[in-house]
Amino acid sequence: MKPRQTEIEEAKKNAALEAVKHVKDGFVVGLGSGSTAAYAIEEIGNRIRNERLHFLGVPTSYQAFMLAIKHRITITTLDEHPTLDLVIDGADQIDQDLNLIKGMGGALTREKIVASASKRLIIIADENKKVKVLGENNHPIPMEVIPFSARLIIRKIGEMGGIPAIREGNGKVGPVITDNGNMIIDARFGLVTNPTELECRLKSVVGVVETGLFVRMANTVYIGKHSGVEKLEKKM
Ligand code: 5RP
Repeated sequence: MKPRQTEIEEAKKNAALEAVKHVKDGFVVGLGSGSTAAYAIEEIGNRIRNERLHFLGVPTSYQAFMLAIKHRITITTLDEHPTLDLVIDGADQIDQDLNLIKGMGGALTREKIVASASKRLIIIADENKKVKVLGENNHPIPMEVIPFSARLIIRKIGEMGGIPAIREGNGKVGPVITDNGNMIIDARFGLVTNPTELECRLKSVVGVVETGLFVRMANTVYIGKHSGVEKLEKKM
């Protein structure tokens, strides 16, 4: 039997390969962040090389930027291309209405900006990311915050009934600093039965740059399995 981790990696890759089939010659594509999106970036590079196609990529993080360079994808910016054809990105949780929690990789703000600039957002993930209700298994909502306001936001999230924590670094002491020079607060709210309302409340806290709640943004989700892929489409 294959080790469980190998099966999960195969599932992520299967979802990524399916999503990259939507990329057409001449497309400007948003390049998501995380381990699943990394498979999509690699496959976009393969298609450029093998099929002699021309794509431009807008990376959502330094990770995506460095992978795009490695796989010889020509980089562009939102300044040059404010409308993207497609974004392919990962997610941490996906509910039945295709609402998402993102940001465990800390790239949520650029990911949301790029998604908001795109005609279509395709999410790729393995089966473990599917939930009935966001926040299951005590999963936190990541928020990018201005460091100056971090303590104040911690207090306010507590008053709202959340359990907040500043994200600590791996391979570095102290807080994680995002690609935008900010901090991440992970806030647990239990089950998020109304993500639209929570998103509004969190965004109204001064100093919160962006939240990892992506409400009704995803158009298509590919859930990879170790053999095959399940396709979910947003209900109108
Ligand atoms: C980064 C993200 C990632 O897309 C999300 O964390 C999923 O990552 P992975 O594919 O490694 O599980 O939102 O900010």
